[in-house]
Amino acid sequence: MYSSLIDQAAEACVQATKGVALTGAGISVESGIPPFRGKGGLWEKIDPMKYAHIDMLVNNPVEVWEVLFLGIAELLTTAVPNAGHLGLQRLEQMGILQTIITQNVDGLHQKAGSSDVIEFHGTHAMLRCMGCHVRSDWQSVSMDRIPPVCPCGAYLRPDVVMFGEPIDVGLLRRSQILAANCDVMLVIGTSATVEPAAYLPLIAKDRGAFIIEINPEPTPLTNRISDITLLGPAGEMMDRIVAAMDKRRAGA
Ligand code: APR
Repeated sequence: MYSSLIDQAAEACVQATKGVALTGAGISVESGIPPFRGKGGLWEKIDPMKYAHIDMLVNNPVEVWEVLFLGIAELLTTAVPNAGHLGLQRLEQMGILQTIITQNVDGLHQKAGSSDVIEFHGTHAMLRCMGCHVRSDWQSVSMDRIPPVCPCGAYLRPDVVMFGEPIDVGLLRRSQILAANCDVMLVIGTSATVEPAAYLPLIAKDRGAFIIEINPEPTPLTNRISDITLLGPAGEMMDRIVAAMDKRRAGA
């Protein structure tokens, strides 16, 4: 059953020149980073509206740092890209994929070698001052005290977008334009429930793009917006798509 869907996905990718990928936490699951929602997800253990909300960070930064930020930082220090990230990098090399719009803050697409990555929800790799907004990297900051403190005296926080905070307007606009102009959109490892990222596949579909979804579970996009849904893990599915594309390109 999968092979024909894989073939269709490969065929759509081979034809594409303006592909865009929208990725979410699921693409990094095979790198050992748990997703937010669903079985084993982070939000099963902690309440996102409490710990991942900007109001909580402002009112109780010590608790947010201890419960959320330090745990994520530890996971990210050892995580390496998996076949899902590497498959997207291959698609870029082949001239098929232009840009990855990721909701992830783990930097694994860049580590895999993808060159144009829009970090829609920011990055955990950098810290930002809550007072003067200057950014710094983790290595340059003392973690003797939590939360760490900026030279200006205010607390530092990871440079991520929390609930209750807006998406950077420039990134949002660029993502909408890419979605409107792509020929194929790969939607990988996202529950497609958090706006405005979840709206991007709708823009792409409305403008005629072919939507390939990869996720072990159906999402609100499945059978509605997605032209093909590959119900499986990102790494395995990307490996199979790339292998089918290589075969086609070799004229087999
Ligand atoms: N391969 C592909 N997809 C997977 C895999 C896997 N190996 N394992 C799980 N998934 C799927 C799940 O079925 C789920 O649909 O990944 C999806 C992860 O969904 P979420 O945890 O909701 O992650 P995401 O869509 O990225 O969340 C969006 O919500 O909490 C906020 O800011 C956070 O960026 C995040 C945003």
